[in-house]
Amino acid sequence: MATVESGQTAEAAQRTPERRSAPVVTVRGARATLGSRPVLRGIDLAVHSGEVVALLGANGSGKSTAVRSVIGQVPLTDGEITLFSTPLRRFRDWARVGYVPQRTTAASGVPATVREVVASGRLSRTRFGLPGKADRAAVERAIELVGLTDRAKDSVEALSGGQHQRVLIARALAAGPELLIMDEPMAGVDLASQDILAATLREQVAAGTTVLLVLHELGALEPLIDRAVVLRDGCVVHDGPPPRAVGQHSSPSSSSRGGPMPGHDPSPLTNPGCHPHAAGEPLRTGLLS
Ligand SMILES: Nc1ncnc2c1ncn2[C@@H]1O[C@H](COP(=O)(O)OP(=O)(O)OP(=O)(O)O)[C@@H](O)[C@H]1O
Ligand SMILES: [Mg+2]
Repeated sequence: MATVESGQTAEAAQRTPERRSAPVVTVRGARATLGSRPVLRGIDLAVHSGEVVALLGANGSGKSTAVRSVIGQVPLTDGEITLFSTPLRRFRDWARVGYVPQRTTAASGVPATVREVVASGRLSRTRFGLPGKADRAAVERAIELVGLTDRAKDSVEALSGGQHQRVLIARALAAGPELLIMDEPMAGVDLASQDILAATLREQVAAGTTVLLVLHELGALEPLIDRAVVLRDGCVVHDGPPPRAVGQHSSPSSSSRGGPMPGHDPSPLTNPGCHPHAAGEPLRTGLLS
C-alpha cells in the first residue's frame, strides 16, 4: 500500500480502529462524461463510518464531479455507487447526508435570510410538519457555530463570499447529518473562521459523523484527516495517508501549485482507461502552497 510520508496525526490515528466498519460511501468503477469529455474514468472510492477522507487533485481533475456523482447530481455512464449500503438509485434517506457545494459566484436570485437558508438544511427532517423546537434549536446552534448569530436576519445577498460559505456550512450542519460531503468548504473563508469551522467539524467527527471533503489546502483540517484520495484526469492515483501539505513542510522551490509528493506509491489501478502514472513522475495533489 502507500508509502507516502504520512501526514496522519495521532488524532486521526486514534479513530483508525473504526475505519473498517460499515462503508458509508462506495464508488466502484465510476465513469462520467460531461459534454463530450470523459471526466471520471473509472474511479473507486470508499468512505467508512467515522472516517474523514480528503479528495485532492489539481483543478479539473474531477473532484467536484466525483462528489456530485455521489449525491446523484451527475449520472454515471458506468460503475456503481452506494450510500449506507444502498444503491444510489434506491437511496431516499437524504436526511442522513449533508452537502456543501463548491462556492460559486452565482446569486440565487431569491433573497433569503441567513436563518432561512440554514433552516432549509433541516427541511428533509421536517417534511411532515412545521419545524419543531428541536429543529429551531439545531438551526440556531448551527448559525452560532459558524459565528453568524448577529447576521441571522440579514439577507444572504448582503454577506461577503466567505460569510456566505459559512452559511452553507451551517445549513449542512443543521441537518445533523451522518455523512457530511463538502466541496472546498474553506475556500474564501478567513483563517479565524477556518479555525472555528475546524473545531466545529472536530466535534461532529468526535460524535461519529463521516466526512468526505474536497480540499485544496489541508490547513486547519489536516489533523482530522484519516485518508487522502488523489484524482488526476478522472482517475485515482493515490489512496492512502494524507500527503504533507506541499509548501507547508517543504522547501520553497517545491512549493509550486500541485507540486510533487515524495515517496508516493499509487494504489493499484485496475480500471481500463486509468493507467498508473510513470514511476518518478510527480504526483499532483492539487494542494496549494
Ligand atoms: N457541466 C459541465 N460540462 C462540461 N464539462 C464540465 C462540466 N462540469 C465540469 N466539467 C469538466 O469536467 C472536468 C472536471 O471538473 P471538476 O469540476 O470535477 O474538477 P475539480 O477537480 O473539481 O476542479 P477544481 O479544483 O477547479 O474545482 C473539467 O475539465 C471541467 O471542465
Ligand atoms: Mg471542484
